[in-house]
Amino acid sequence: MALTLLAIESSCDETAAAVMQGNRILSNCIATQNVHSAFGGVVPELASRAHQQNIVPVVREALENAGVSLLDLNGIAFTSGPGLMGSLLVGVSFAKGLAMGLGIPLVEVDHMQAHVLAHRIGQHADGTESTAAEFPFLCLTVSGGHTQLVWAEAWNRLTVLGQTRDDAAGEALDKVAKLIGLPYPGGPHIDRLAEHGNPHVFVLPKTKMPGLDFSFSGLKTAVLNLVVKSRALDPQFPGDQTADLCASVQATVVEALVNRLREAIEQTGAVRIALAGGVSANRALRNAVVHLEKEMGVRAFLPRMEYCTDNAAMVAAVGMAALEAGVSASFRTSAKPGRQLR
Ligand code: KG4
Ligand code: ZN
Repeated sequence: MALTLLAIESSCDETAAAVMQGNRILSNCIATQNVHSAFGGVVPELASRAHQQNIVPVVREALENAGVSLLDLNGIAFTSGPGLMGSLLVGVSFAKGLAMGLGIPLVEVDHMQAHVLAHRIGQHADGTESTAAEFPFLCLTVSGGHTQLVWAEAWNRLTVLGQTRDDAAGEALDKVAKLIGLPYPGGPHIDRLAEHGNPHVFVLPKTKMPGLDFSFSGLKTAVLNLVVKSRALDPQFPGDQTADLCASVQATVVEALVNRLREAIEQTGAVRIALAGGVSANRALRNAVVHLEKEMGVRAFLPRMEYCTDNAAMVAAVGMAALEAGVSASFRTSAKPGRQLR
């Protein structure tokens, strides 16, 4: 009999719950917090309050959509970190209380491991199926908090080959967007505006770090300097050059990511590559990664849109692998905001 698992994600500003049975995601529900857009970024205190309000309705919706009752569950998985302390605590406390009350195992999940393992999901909540990435595969995880190249050999054997030394790629996009007056989160707006822009209009710096590491803070500073200088002459800047600026910034970020991915493929001999995290929704990045299929003879796995930004199906993918392997957490565990894949 296949195991049934409830998974909870609350590391940042999405309150999410999913139900998985065997290999199949039965439901995948998300309550996005809109309260942060007015502040141009996630406000931790507001995020944890919104998680408190959303968690019960989201879990109930996930169970109802899956057609599963609490008594059918064999385990509860939750994200223990990395993330915001107050946000994580809501998910941890809820998961602990429920698992203890039901007398079932508690499974602790690393958020970055979950982004990678979303590629192991082959059967989705809408009833469709897709090919899950087989191990080993190389994953480029690009989100608002992280930029990592990860070598995935098994559900519990992930090695970070390179990562950002400063800002994450999504964070750089969000900060640039804020500088030019776009709403938070800016990444999707840059994606949309860049479509009609010329990526060669603004020449921005490309920082090369040692090994397979990344750096994006120089890009953000270069755009800040450009905006300050240009506004001295034209206070409306970037005005009708907004699309060109977005296209130039996006192209610089995509090139930095894909160049490193190319090097990592050469170093590891990977034949399967995957993209994960919120920025993997970016169309220019997706296209560039698909191009590598022909160029380097690899198979590229792009996440479905519902698995790009934070979601609980990806937490369920790790939770189910752990539960099936008999790995569970102590009820003494707590939130681990600084948790890191190594
Ligand atoms: O994985 P995620 O939902 O949360 C974190 O764990 O950080 O990623 C959020 C990030 C934000 O920086 C957001 O701007 C970016 O993903 N993002 C995008 C797009 N959609 C979301 N960046 C570029 N293009 C997009 N289409
Ligand atoms: Zn994430």
